[in-house]
Amino acid sequence: MAEESSRRGIARGLTNYGDPAFAAYLRRSFAKSMGYGDEALAKPIVGICHTPSGFNNCHRHFPEMLEAVKRGVLAEGALPVPFPVISLGEVFLSPTSLKFRNLMAMDVEEMVRAQPMDAVVLMGGCDKTVPAELMGAVSANVPAVMLVGGPMMTGRYRGERLGACTDCRRFWAAYRGGKVSDTEIGEIEGNLAVTAGTCAVMGTASTMACIAEALGMALPDSAAAPAVHADRLRIAEESGRTAVRLIGKPIAPREIVTRKSVENALRVLLALSGSTNAVIHLTAIAGRAGIRITLDDLNRLSAETPVLVDLKPTGDHYMEDFHAAGGMGAVLAELAPLLHLDALTVIGETLGERLARRAGHYVNRAVVRERASPLSPVGGLIGLSGSLAPDGALLKRAAATPALMEHEGRAVVFSSLEDLAARIDDPDLDVTADDVLVLQNAGPRSPSGMPEAGYLPIPRKLAAAGVKDMVRISDARMSGTAFGTIILHVTPEAALGGPLALVRNGDRIALSASRHAIDLLVDPAELARRRAALPPPPASPPRGYSRLYERTVLPATEGCDFDFLREP
Ligand code: FES
Repeated sequence: MAEESSRRGIARGLTNYGDPAFAAYLRRSFAKSMGYGDEALAKPIVGICHTPSGFNNCHRHFPEMLEAVKRGVLAEGALPVPFPVISLGEVFLSPTSLKFRNLMAMDVEEMVRAQPMDAVVLMGGCDKTVPAELMGAVSANVPAVMLVGGPMMTGRYRGERLGACTDCRRFWAAYRGGKVSDTEIGEIEGNLAVTAGTCAVMGTASTMACIAEALGMALPDSAAAPAVHADRLRIAEESGRTAVRLIGKPIAPREIVTRKSVENALRVLLALSGSTNAVIHLTAIAGRAGIRITLDDLNRLSAETPVLVDLKPTGDHYMEDFHAAGGMGAVLAELAPLLHLDALTVIGETLGERLARRAGHYVNRAVVRERASPLSPVGGLIGLSGSLAPDGALLKRAAATPALMEHEGRAVVFSSLEDLAARIDDPDLDVTADDVLVLQNAGPRSPSGMPEAGYLPIPRKLAAAGVKDMVRISDARMSGTAFGTIILHVTPEAALGGPLALVRNGDRIALSASRHAIDLLVDPAELARRRAALPPPPASPPRGYSRLYERTVLPATEGCDFDFLREP
């Protein structure tokens, strides 16, 4: 028998019966029960990690995409073998999808490693699926191509273009403020998400698709093609072909996900004004390759990376416009002087070689600006630290109100999501537009598992009076499709006794985006008194995945991976 390291295709990673020849014979026999012939079983195998689900609207076109991937694999001379892993549909998971990202990453890593495949195509799209698949792929380190499902097309409502989910929030805020009726909100509900695919703006899913391409793990110009566009199927077919070509080289994920490609991806995230969630996910993906991202790294790059892309939630356009405008190739070409052009990509070329073939490509400058005339000369995200967040916090400055970015105000505190829901619309709530809304106990170790609750609603009485934005602070996350002067991922989190847990109504809080500072202006002796009076942390979950999660999840600033999954 061949040594394990030299086995390919169906003979890889044999089941252990203490007799390898018997295991190979039994496997071939059972494979033949599925109708495979000897010739097919002699080929190299490309696994296709397939993630459709009745609970994942964003992946509803995956069966058609799968056929295109298979076509590419077969055309290049290998055997395509689809296999399932869990699928995470953003709005169908409780308490929040982030809690299950690491579970999916473990599923991907172990199934890619345990099953006989020489390369893998990873099909993902909805927010947590792409980071989970990339995390698993980096750890398994089998040659891999990331294939995203692509964004939804926009819908129409009374002549207006609508796209999930920025417009979902815009209309909901108007409904809360009494500007949209019950009938209208019902009509809008049916027109926000009208095709297969991921959210139609530069939310978390689209940001992660762009990051996958910037890392070099996905095909050139694959991030933005809409889910229902023929380009998406051509990309799927070519992803299958590419996976087969990787087998001969081989180029494994850890040769692609390097310090240089991670820095390129961070640059792209900043130039897109991408989702704050992507900082967590990129940190986790990099951590699987032993690469650390710090807030200093983020701020250093943010200071010198212009915002080039004019997309919602911070700009005017949708993902389908981005694709038509030139997509990621246009962004990377503009950023080229700032990028590591020697970073390797999944097609076997360096980023520089890829971009050298772009000369003469059309770019719509209303959507993708030139570096000389950016939307902003500095990146869309910054890290903050200070006495309220000693280990860091995040602000999407591109989505913030400029007048609020240097602000001092009185804290109005909500101790939990339940407390927020119970009191935010109370007509007697003591709150003004200049106050700072503070949400505690919504971080990764809280029972809520770090939901996208950082976009605290404007109190109804202020919304009705026309207030559109306030400074809002929490240890929660925010949807990539949301906007406002919102400070997120405060670390250490309140559930672990961080300073956020010590804030009380009426305290003064100071935000200075220019100094990257977020401070609680309370006497340290008073804070020590409050700390001594803090209630004990909630009891650990008694069993199962929740217990594993609670015991091992890392802070937001370290990517919320499990401590035992990160590469030392
Ligand atoms: Fe799947 Fe937005 S709900 S990407």
